[in-house]
Order: sequence, then C-alpha cells, then structure tokens
Amino acid sequence: MSEKPTEDEAMDKIEASRKAYAQARKQNSRARTAQDPLKIAVLISGNGTNLQAILDAIDAGDLPVEVVLVLSSRPDAYGLKRAAKAGVPMMSLDRETYKNPQVADDIIATECKQHGAEYIVMAGYMRLLGADVLDSFPDHVLNIHPALLPSFRGAHAIKDAFDAGVKVTGVTVHFANASYDKGAIIAQCPVAVREDDTQDTLEARIHETEHVLYPWVLKHIAAGDVTLNTETGKVHIDNADE
Ligand code: GRF
Repeated sequence: MSEKPTEDEAMDKIEASRKAYAQARKQNSRARTAQDPLKIAVLISGNGTNLQAILDAIDAGDLPVEVVLVLSSRPDAYGLKRAAKAGVPMMSLDRETYKNPQVADDIIATECKQHGAEYIVMAGYMRLLGADVLDSFPDHVLNIHPALLPSFRGAHAIKDAFDAGVKVTGVTVHFANASYDKGAIIAQCPVAVREDDTQDTLEARIHETEHVLYPWVLKHIAAGDVTLNTETGKVHIDNADE
C-alpha cells in the first residue's frame, strides 16, 4: 500500500502541475475543421488587406476559421467595406470613445466575447489594447508587424528599416501584450531589400508576405500546432514545414 503523501509533497505536486501547465500551453486544444472553425475577431484601423487575405483563405477552404466580428478603430476604415462584402458582423469605435481607453477596451472585450471570439487578431489595428482586453483573452491576442521584431518596433517600421539601410527586413506575427510589439514571437518571414527598392516597392513585398504569413499562423493555431511556453516566452509550432 502506498503511503499517503505529506502536505508538502502534495503542494509540490500541485505546484509542479501548475508549472507544467503554465510552461506549455497549447493555444488550441482540438484540431479545427470547416464544421468546427476557430472563431476570431479581427481588429482593423485602415485598408484591411490582411483581413481580406484571411477572408480569402477561408473562402478558398484553406483555413478552418470563422471571422465572427470585424471591429474598426475608425468608422471610415476601408476594411469595413471588405467585412460588409463578406457578410461578416462589424462595428466601429470613434475618436470620442477612445478618449477614455478604458471605455474602448471594455466595449472591445465585451463585443468580442459576445460574438464568441476565441482569438483577437489585430490586423493593422493602430491602438494599444489595455488590460481589460488582454486579461479577457490571455495569450489569445495576435498582432502582425511589418518588420523582424525586435528590430523596428513602432508605427513606421517599414520606413525605419528602409532608412536604416538594412539588407533584410520582414514580417512578424506575435502574441500581443501590454507593450507595443513586444509579445512572444510566433512566426517571422524575411523580405530582402533590393538595391533598386524604393520604400513603396519594399512595402508592397512586405504586404504580400503578410498576406501569406497571417493565414499560415492562423492555420497552425486552428490545427492545434502552436504551443506557447509562458515561462520562456517562446513559441513552438508543430508541422512548421507544412
Ligand atoms: C500592415 O502592414 C500591418 O503589419 C501593420 O499595419 C498594416 C495594415 O495593413 N500593423 P492592412 O490594413 O491589413 O492593409
């Protein structure tokens, strides 16, 4: 007969299992299908070409994801037209609302939850999300950044990289946290800077790369391939060559 564990031993066991859980959190527990899609809310502020790339990948049957809400930080964002065309529920907030960021965050968290979103996907969303949203979707908020983080953080990453004369820049998809462009990196794709590039031609290739990388990351999250180690802040992706 095995001996009853002491209180200390029991506590150690609980701590160990808490750590193991915290260390390796699968971002999605079951492989999703078109009949059981991963539900996402997409946050935009402008053109919405990344939103479009996601919608196109869903349409093509390549991505078992459902966009349950498009939320814009600007009522005039062109991306809202893309959402309307796709028949996706949408809403926008205005400057007035953002005067109190807490109010905006509360609306965002509530709306995303009410629409059943499992993930918040920022695609050109030009506002910082606060604790209300991040705590409501812990490690379930994604962002795309047009540079190879941690280089060239901020709102002018393409210009900054071009002006710095780097030979390689690229695109990063990462988890969002309370600091701009600082969460755990999920995936990156390099883009070479050519001798004859202008900022515009470089930007066009970066956008093309974004439109492939974001759906690719979502596909792997939907497949249950993505694990975040919350202790090291590193992300592992199974089947990353697919
Ligand atoms: C993208 O370059 C994205 O990386 C950055 O904002 C841009 C949004 O483009 N955060 P779009 O609205 O998806 O066309």
